Amino acid sequence: MNAEDTGREGVAGGSTLLSEAREAGRERPYAEGDPILEVRGLVKHYPLTRGILFKKQIGAVKAVDGVDFDLAAGETLGIVGESGCGKSTVAKMLVHLEPPTGGVIRYRGEDVTKLSGRALRAVRRNIQMVFQDPYTSLNPRMTVGDIIGEPYEIHPEVAPKGSRRQKVQDLLDVVGLNPEYINRYPHQFSGGQRQRIGIARGLALNPEIIVADEPVSALDVSVQAQVVNLLDRLQAEFDLSFLFIAHDLSIVRHISDRVGVMYLGRIVEIGTDEEIYDHPTHPYTQALLSAVPVPDPTAREHRERIILHGDVPSPANIPSGCRFRTRCWKAQERCRLEVPLLAVPAVFRDSETPARHDSACHFAEEKQVVPHEGLRETPAEDEGPSSPSSSPFSSSSPSDEGPPPSPSPGRDDRSAEGPGLG
Ligand SMILES: Nc1ncnc2c1ncn2[C@@H]1O[C@H](COP(=O)(O)OP(=O)(O)OP(=O)(O)O)[C@@H](O)[C@H]1O
Ligand code: SF4
Ligand SMILES: [Mg+2]
Repeated sequence: MNAEDTGREGVAGGSTLLSEAREAGRERPYAEGDPILEVRGLVKHYPLTRGILFKKQIGAVKAVDGVDFDLAAGETLGIVGESGCGKSTVAKMLVHLEPPTGGVIRYRGEDVTKLSGRALRAVRRNIQMVFQDPYTSLNPRMTVGDIIGEPYEIHPEVAPKGSRRQKVQDLLDVVGLNPEYINRYPHQFSGGQRQRIGIARGLALNPEIIVADEPVSALDVSVQAQVVNLLDRLQAEFDLSFLFIAHDLSIVRHISDRVGVMYLGRIVEIGTDEEIYDHPTHPYTQALLSAVPVPDPTAREHRERIILHGDVPSPANIPSGCRFRTRCWKAQERCRLEVPLLAVPAVFRDSETPARHDSACHFAEEKQVVPHEGLRETPAEDEGPSSPSSSPFSSSSPSDEGPPPSPSPGRDDRSAEGPGLG
């Protein structure tokens, strides 16, 4: 996220932290400046079985197959990738909705995959999730007050009984909703407002980390911008770290300090937003970027469209060597035999260019797919009064609230998002 958006200091040292943590090894205790979250070799395999009475495992769906990343305090890490590449599975493991098959999730230096009971509850409090679909993730039979206040039943120490109503009303206010709506039901809100309720619930326990899994994909485009701007503001206000999963590469660029690109259960390239968007070195990232709609007609004319052939292989049958090789136009014999590691490619190791970032490719090459200004989002604060804006994020409107809405059907305006990844 750009520092100008929020007025906070940017976390430009994210990638430095990543390499420092790697150099220091796994057992380093948590210290000020360390990543708040370290994920190493995270794996989730779902067994494939045959037989009804005597189930026999015949394989596994390798939904997540060795994911590594760090999240610095106050940082937003965006995760992008095609449908089915394992983004939600990573999110679910981080918030303990799914147990990992292997790997380490270290929060403040402690491996949370080994915790249970009270210690685990304390960690869970600090890592909260905002879900994709505000239409199904809120219990229709509960009032907004009960929905937002529900976490206090498990963590009464955060808000003793007598103070809960006020706390919930404060949260409604923080997310741009009228505190008087506390007794309403989810169906009395629009999609954007419901997502604000989901965000308020995510904030109820004062977490340090928010895992947001496609938080705006189910909303129409104008509301998407408002919710993204809200998340942006809340991050600065509450000093949150975000893992932000989305299909839309423009949204991810707008909100992220760093971006990780996933393919078939692994991160294949990771770096700052500038490194990934303007200096991608992995063929898969380059193909993804080449498919993004570009608002500027001149930029659109000059960009190269890379068409990927073939389907994404099944996660139950991952290709040997480089998992992207069956669709990569640069694949060679080495790609079939040798798994490329997520690291700075040798060719860039001694250079000072932004291409010097982690990329899991034997033949990494910088390729600027989208001309420099093509995907850049211009926040409203940067614009002069007469500056026209094509960015949906220039809206500074705090809420899509307006008059109390009538029950609204689910809005799904995905067609306006351009070719999504999933
Ligand atoms: N409980 C499960 N049992 C078996 N396979 C699963 C299970 N959950 C997910 N998968 C498989 O794991 C893979 C990754 O799923 P996941 O939901 O993490 O993808 P995703 O990147 O979030 O996709 P999308 O962008 O569509 O949300 C998919 O192939 C999916 O079918
Ligand atoms: S390692 Fe080979 S197959 Fe994989 S992305 Fe690089 S060039 Fe393509
Ligand atoms: Mg998902």
